[in-house]
Amino acid sequence: MLTKIDLKEYFNNLSGTYRTNEFASFFLTNFMRRKLIKKVQNFENKSVLDIMSGKGENLKYINQNNTKITTIDFASKMNIAAKSKHKNKKIHQIENDFFKEKHKPESYDIILCSFGIKTIQPEQLNAFTKQLSKTLKPNGEIFLLELVKPKRTFNYKFTKFYLDALVPNIFGKQFKALFPYIKNHVNMNKLKLNMINEKLQIIEHKRYMDLFEIIHAKNIAIPSLNKTIE
Ligand SMILES: C[S@@+](CC[C@H](N)C(=O)[O-])C[C@H]1O[C@@H](n2cnc3c(N)ncnc32)[C@H](O)[C@@H]1O
Repeated sequence: MLTKIDLKEYFNNLSGTYRTNEFASFFLTNFMRRKLIKKVQNFENKSVLDIMSGKGENLKYINQNNTKITTIDFASKMNIAAKSKHKNKKIHQIENDFFKEKHKPESYDIILCSFGIKTIQPEQLNAFTKQLSKTLKPNGEIFLLELVKPKRTFNYKFTKFYLDALVPNIFGKQFKALFPYIKNHVNMNKLKLNMINEKLQIIEHKRYMDLFEIIHAKNIAIPSLNKTIE
């Protein structure tokens, strides 16, 4: 596993070849992002926060001019690539560690996060959920997508062979870092429990193809003027 500094460096280095992910996954990752975004009923006049936004892969599905988009990612090269890829969109980019950012409470209607969760350390999970809950407006919604360790033995062995042996040889050694994170990320149950404890209502938690999970949650808490982060 990489430390946080290594992780930032890793993603900065990966930015040039990040699109290779799509080919290596036979566009499954793109398919799943679209599935996630389709769960959002309405982007009209909404303020959206895309966490760990990378090159802005989720943003291509947001086409309403009146959506206020904010992204947060600590890798500057990812942010530069996102900016040049989405020139036609007005995006407020925050370049910071999500855990260190002091967001204004209750500032977003929609929070998105695709493929950023698996690198969160277990001891950071509480802080992650508290940040989500704090920044979300009352009735705001969260949409999370991540790769998880397959449950079925065949699926696990196939994924291990494909991602750990084949993909690094075909698409580059940088992919070698991916499988250990998937292997450690058994499911999103702990994250879901944390969200429930933070008074977030789970609308849906579903596994797809024994390799991806999506959580859709809603903030049913009453507005508060002084939510704090520990
Ligand atoms: C696997 S990429 C996902 C990018 C994009 N969301 C997608 O769907 O492809 C993970 C991104 O999260 C960022 N990241 C990881 N940990 C972070 C943190 N603590 N704060 C801010 N960004 C972080 C990395 O720089 C990287 O761009």
